[in-house]
Amino acid sequence: MRIDIATLFPEMFEPVLQTSIPGRAAAGGFATYHLHDIREFADNRHRKVDDRPFGGGPGMVMMCQPLHDCVQAIEAADPTPATRVLMTPQGERMEQRHVEMLAGRERLLIIAGHYEGVDERVIEALDPIELSIGDYVLSGGELPAMVLTDAVVRLLPGVLGHDDSAREDSFAEREFDDQGRRRLLEGPHYTRPRVWNDRAVPDVLLSGDHQAVEAWRRQQMVERTRQRRPDLLNRDP
Ligand code: ADE
Repeated sequence: MRIDIATLFPEMFEPVLQTSIPGRAAAGGFATYHLHDIREFADNRHRKVDDRPFGGGPGMVMMCQPLHDCVQAIEAADPTPATRVLMTPQGERMEQRHVEMLAGRERLLIIAGHYEGVDERVIEALDPIELSIGDYVLSGGELPAMVLTDAVVRLLPGVLGHDDSAREDSFAEREFDDQGRRRLLEGPHYTRPRVWNDRAVPDVLLSGDHQAVEAWRRQQMVERTRQRRPDLLNRDP
């Protein structure tokens, strides 16, 4: 998959995209990342990319021209059609189903919005999918763009070391349904030592009885979901 990212702060991305799973996805040839500085496309002498809002109000608005030209140049650089995604607090709330849908595309063009917002006319012209990572306001779309990239590349076949084990679980143990909607939270995890600061690992996990382990895990998932996210249990199928 090719991932293009249009941003005012390309330098924010490098450490994140070179580390951990996103880094492994790139090193293994499963994903390529291409960062583009929107400011380089400003056609004015001062490389200005934002201006004051018409009608007044606080903050600045991202101008149409630099972003539009940046997107045109990115798309012209490779004939593979790109799915455009704008990270914005006004977007649909991103869930695993969005991530799964985007992981199936050949090429993503992720736009990190900034300032108070982006001029509505360039959003209309580019017609991107608009995604929010949650109901809180960040300084810009850079961190959300990294969140999306991480969530997408870990789904690309071959990126995670273990086989796609999540997919092979029986339905009863699956965190997500076929539409990518969360159905259950994960249960607790334990590793060595068996006893740490007087806290012991649950006996069943040491029993060697696979059926008993699976039944216990399933019960833990349901119990945890009931306690922490009852909304997931009481919704339409
Ligand atoms: N830009 C600023 N806040 C954001 C959010 N919560 N999600 C996506 N983009 C954003």
